[in-house]
Amino acid sequence: MLKVTEKPGIISFAGGLPSPQTFPIEAFADACEKVLRGGGVDSARASLQYAASEGYRPLCEWVAASLPWDVSPDQVMITTGSQQGLDLVAKVLIDEGSRVLVETPTYLGALQAFTPMEPQIVGVASDAEGVDVDDLEGKAAPTLRTGASVTPEGPRFLYVLPNFQNPTGRSMSEARRAALVARAAAIGLPLVEDNPYGDLWFDHPPPPPLTARNPEGCIYLGSFSKVLAPGLRLGFMVAPKAIMPKLLQAKQAADLHSPSFNQRVVAEVLKDGFLDRHVPTIRALYKRQCHAMLSALRTEMAGLDVQWNEPDGGMFLWVRLPEGMNATELLPKAVEHGVAFVPGSAFYADHADPRTLRLSFVTATVEQMGVGIAALARAIREQHGA
Ligand SMILES: Cc1ncc(COP(=O)(O)O)c(C=O)c1O
Repeated sequence: MLKVTEKPGIISFAGGLPSPQTFPIEAFADACEKVLRGGGVDSARASLQYAASEGYRPLCEWVAASLPWDVSPDQVMITTGSQQGLDLVAKVLIDEGSRVLVETPTYLGALQAFTPMEPQIVGVASDAEGVDVDDLEGKAAPTLRTGASVTPEGPRFLYVLPNFQNPTGRSMSEARRAALVARAAAIGLPLVEDNPYGDLWFDHPPPPPLTARNPEGCIYLGSFSKVLAPGLRLGFMVAPKAIMPKLLQAKQAADLHSPSFNQRVVAEVLKDGFLDRHVPTIRALYKRQCHAMLSALRTEMAGLDVQWNEPDGGMFLWVRLPEGMNATELLPKAVEHGVAFVPGSAFYADHADPRTLRLSFVTATVEQMGVGIAALARAIREQHGA
């Protein structure tokens, strides 16, 4: 499907690619030079050598110091993107037939990481503020019957994206975070918190992470993909000390370690508060693009029963089509009109809502936004009337 949506001439709101305008090319050029020539030949050679599975120590220290709760660098593992963090969590925590809880909807890449371990993935009801804590309690019950099968033990974890979620763009309120962490702790349910978008807020930073409220009950995943560049394939995982040896074993089996050179270059780029200067430029760009998309939606969808949310950050917004419509069936018509999106059904563990779709507002330019949304509105009108 992505191949179709990436055809030349198509305005794509489908991909989850950060805007390449935000990649700090000069900072990387300087940092590469410093890593290779700035510290003498031994340091240059070390940057090209095999290295520790935990990650480059100064980068682990930077991660620990950057988080708003007390984290030891020994609890940090540098991963090959946060996607690898999801894979390692799946390998260590999931067994065939065990239950895993996810939000409704949730990140497709997490469903893909969990599925090979053959768990029973159960969607927890969610609203504009995130996970429905009462529904969670039911889905986390020790014995749960879904369809023909029964899982005889509680879930291994709840996977949750509190900030500018992929795919919906929604964020959890402070009250919901507090309630979720309290309920999860009370029933002994581990949380896997994925936070690649938390720094991409428009006007106000989101409330503190779930993990900050109960570090012993959570695994936290972060990423350099959205604040520096995704091609680096660097992310990180923060986990309770007791589980680190198992996660390290899985990491060693997967790829020994994340690229030494990339880690040292990133550690060099991050020196002297680089992100404090760089990330505000990404926020400003994405905010402009989001507002352009929202304004085009207001104009072009007038008179249609189409709903959407207004995110406070991140890269995505979530659209619900008029009653009776199906986003997967709409896609070929939209592509005919020159615009692409991702049908929402890809993001559900169960009970998909066929009316939903995801729009990315960061890859297309502000100029393309009006044209693309107008094309989408034309496709909806044609399909709806059909
Ligand atoms: C919610 C979420 N988690 C994890 C990832 C993976 O990011 P990366 O592996 O580039 O760090 C993505 C990428 O789009 C994402 O949206």
